[in-house]
Amino acid sequence: MENRIVVMGGRPLNGAVRIPAAKNSVLPLLAASMLCGDVRLRAVPRLSDVAASLALLRGAGCAARWEGEDILVSGTPQNSSLPGQTAEQMRASILFCAPLLAKLGRAETSLPGGCNIGARPIDLHLAGLRQMGAVEWEAGPGRLVLTAPSGLHGAEITLRFPSVGATETLVLAAACARGTTVLRGAAREPEIADLAAFLNRCGAHIQGAGSSTLYIEGRRNLSGCVFSPLPDRIFASTLACAVAAAGGRAELSGCPASLYAPVLEILEQMGCRVEKGGDSVRLSRFGRLYGAGRVFTGVYPALATDAAPLLAAAMLCAEGESSIEDVIFERRFGCAAGFERLGAKVQVNGRTLCIRPGGVLRGTELAAPDLRGGAALVVAALAASGTSVIGHPEHIDRGYAAFTEILSSLGAQIRREERSRNPSAKKTSSKKQNHLAIGTKRWYDTVI
Ligand code: UD1
Repeated sequence: MENRIVVMGGRPLNGAVRIPAAKNSVLPLLAASMLCGDVRLRAVPRLSDVAASLALLRGAGCAARWEGEDILVSGTPQNSSLPGQTAEQMRASILFCAPLLAKLGRAETSLPGGCNIGARPIDLHLAGLRQMGAVEWEAGPGRLVLTAPSGLHGAEITLRFPSVGATETLVLAAACARGTTVLRGAAREPEIADLAAFLNRCGAHIQGAGSSTLYIEGRRNLSGCVFSPLPDRIFASTLACAVAAAGGRAELSGCPASLYAPVLEILEQMGCRVEKGGDSVRLSRFGRLYGAGRVFTGVYPALATDAAPLLAAAMLCAEGESSIEDVIFERRFGCAAGFERLGAKVQVNGRTLCIRPGGVLRGTELAAPDLRGGAALVVAALAASGTSVIGHPEHIDRGYAAFTEILSSLGAQIRREERSRNPSAKKTSSKKQNHLAIGTKRWYDTVI
């Protein structure tokens, strides 16, 4: 089966979307559920990374299932080996090790995979766990075994870089460790605060989440809870960039503007109109887009690295020059080749993508290089005239549920095709999932 997304671009977007829960919050919450009793996570998007996380939980012996849009997790882990193939598929599988260590004193996994956007070591996770009493064992190529012969204990740990994943690993390890952990140099991303809020609701004692120093008093046992994960600021950024690129107007509700303020600020400087209210944003672009000049990513609250390719897709449509440097990952702009195929004038210099005006975007055949790069190609294709076909949408499925349906609800001409290698068995999926679209109004009647 060969799947692809087909986009007929050049049409403005128009409508309203409720932003779903954040992948980067749901995955650590699912790992954390192993430490707790019965957990219900509300309104979780059906992402392939979520399916992989449920497989990891089940592989460890927990019960994990869908009930409507919610996920229910129960039981404590019985088996310290995570299913290898599943663990290899995604970077976040490393987060499941600390709870196994805390509960069973042992964790075995394959080294984590994920998007090919640069080196993604786990040295910070391992160094922190070692300080808390964990020992690593040789386990053959690509395999990792961790044990905690005397259990995990609190420690004073300073991260040399505020890694999101390492902060989450160490919060998970410390929540049930003996004694107090002080974690300095921690990541301040909102997903860390969400994880701490969830664990505290389950009886943990974590202070300082959202700042760079966390204080965690270990608790032997945690209970379960019902929890609604944070909205997905990268999903909201994606739709905001799509409206900027294709033109039109959209109301994005359920995600406060403060969670993706840098994206909104840059789009506003480029000529979009941004109206913020409560937990919603109305973003419109009816006139020309100006170049953004030089833009950099950074750790929160700076511009998120995950938003960089999406913003770059909007920059392709600007009349002036833009450049965007990702200081977090060295190969963030795998989508540049696709941008060029579409007709954009782009160049990658090290970690910087430079975009010159004058390119004319025309639909063509593309391949999603990774999760955010794939979504960025969809955004660029929405702005291009004619038809684009985007292969390897499985990268996009890791982080976007019902992506084509949501964009269709905004008026995009987009569909998903599942093609068998035998062309006569072609199947098209264009079923609308209206639970995320909250009505489509026409706010304008001219095509830009
Ligand atoms: C998480 C997000 C990802 C986002 C990234 C940065 C999830 C599931 N994924 O990934 O979408 O792009 O944060 O905001 O939440 N590093 C080390 N050693 C380590 C760990 C990280 O050197 O042990 C380096 C990495 O190579 C990278 C930087 O730290 O250059 C950021 O990585 P990190 O914050 O850990 O990202 P992830 O947790 O993998």
